[in-house]
Amino acid sequence: MNKKFYITTPIYYPSAKPHMGHAYSSIVSDFFARLKKIQGYEVFFLTGTDEHGQKIQRAALQKNKEPLKFCDEISKTFKDLSKILNLSNNDFIRTTENRHKESVQKLWKILESKKEIYLSKYSGWYSVSDEAFYNEDEIEEDDGFKKSKSSGSKVEWVEEESFFFKLSKWQEPLLKFYKDNPEFILPEARKNEVISFVESGLKDLSISRKSFTWGVKVPSNDKHVIYVWLDALTNYISALNYTDENNELYKKFWPADIHIIGKDILRFHAVYWPAFLLAAGIKPPKRIYGHGWILSGDEKMSKSKGNILDPIEIIEKYGLDPLRYYLLKEVSFGNDGNISNEKLESCINSDLANNYGNLCQRVLSFCEKNIGLKIPNLVEFKNEDLNILENFENNFRSLNLNIDKQNINFYLNFIVEQLFKANKYFNDQEPWKKKNDKKRMNTIVYVSLEIIRKISIMLYPIIPESSLKALKIFNILEKDIEFASILDNEYLLPETKINKIEILFNKIKND
Ligand code: ME8
Ligand code: MG
Repeated sequence: MNKKFYITTPIYYPSAKPHMGHAYSSIVSDFFARLKKIQGYEVFFLTGTDEHGQKIQRAALQKNKEPLKFCDEISKTFKDLSKILNLSNNDFIRTTENRHKESVQKLWKILESKKEIYLSKYSGWYSVSDEAFYNEDEIEEDDGFKKSKSSGSKVEWVEEESFFFKLSKWQEPLLKFYKDNPEFILPEARKNEVISFVESGLKDLSISRKSFTWGVKVPSNDKHVIYVWLDALTNYISALNYTDENNELYKKFWPADIHIIGKDILRFHAVYWPAFLLAAGIKPPKRIYGHGWILSGDEKMSKSKGNILDPIEIIEKYGLDPLRYYLLKEVSFGNDGNISNEKLESCINSDLANNYGNLCQRVLSFCEKNIGLKIPNLVEFKNEDLNILENFENNFRSLNLNIDKQNINFYLNFIVEQLFKANKYFNDQEPWKKKNDKKRMNTIVYVSLEIIRKISIMLYPIIPESSLKALKIFNILEKDIEFASILDNEYLLPETKINKIEILFNKIKND
């Protein structure tokens, strides 16, 4: 069995520099990518920037820059952020690259040859900020402006010649597809939202624009540029060299296992994208996961409110791993969540410094003083040792089911619980009182080290840098991490040399 896993983030608009919301989608995706990797999958993890369309053209114009030059600059800040976030992405795609533009045109030609596209005239509401068309019933008037009810962004009236995609024809096939693939859209609530939207009736979709030029040209009519969402969605296959469908990447990784997105762009991913693909005779992706918002305080981040959270500022202050940990642990995945300095600090102190950091420090320093820097020998498990190991094992086995449904919180809660139990075990067993019973003292330390090893492996997808520091105790390198080895209770070989541990997390003191 060839185990492979293809995961993507949305490709972000380089209209302004990245913010915490972008960092969130990327970190979550990196968590799954790294987890699958240590589970033995061949992983392809893609991120990038979405650079065409009116939104970008206008943003460039505002700064008096050529669109491409404007994109080059801001796209670079997204690429830099992917490094700062320690993402394990295999590629970073820009929709202004030729490999992408050629793929978009190829997909267009296929749709055209299958008679899925026709020329007509569009008249209706359009939001440049969302790059989305809205029906009359999706619009409201506010402060004298027409706005989208869902996103709150301004809409303008558009009337022009346009190519259309026969979306209406795909209403029934889509509903059947959702029924046959009940976990195509997660979480469940989002799936219901999508199904009722599709059931309420799909109209054909305008997929080209004539009134501006910043985009991929329609192959058969260069007065039109292709609708930016048809362009953008294609990134998921263009990065696999879709122009040559017989190439290894495309054959191996398509269909994608999961597109991680925010709930704002669910319709594009769960309705339009599978419709385009079904129409072109291409398999749709296996899953769309629409996560919630990272709020700033209790509000959505927006330029006008001036409450945009900058991930780089937080990382400079607290470090990357604490931020990654916080976003994965404290946000209930699928729902909205928020972040504040106070909450982040208390999470660092309680979970990272006091729970994980403390366990590693005290076990290692006790071992060094009383046994030496080596894995203890004379190990003989008693009931209390078997209890903690078996409890770990039993709960661990139910993990896979949950993680296959992207239940990140289940995974994180398991870790916190096991850390708590491990600290309690070390306390209760009082190895410092067993100095005359070497066998017993050594066994307690051995079991504690085994649990540190297991938990550090589990932490790798969450806080890779800190996890690797901890695994260095046992001389386990990144390339050697194996998730399956967590179930081995006697992985550590007595008498093998171990290393001291660096301080993992500093407690934050506020006085
Ligand atoms: O929509 N909380 O790009 P975009 C959580 N280019 N996630 C957030 C967020 C927040 N407050 N704000 C943004 C686009 N995001 C298109 C996508 S894909 C083919 C094209 C994340 O720059 C979330 O994943 O507006 C959201 O869906 C995405 O950024 C939107 O980024
Ligand atoms: Mg957006």
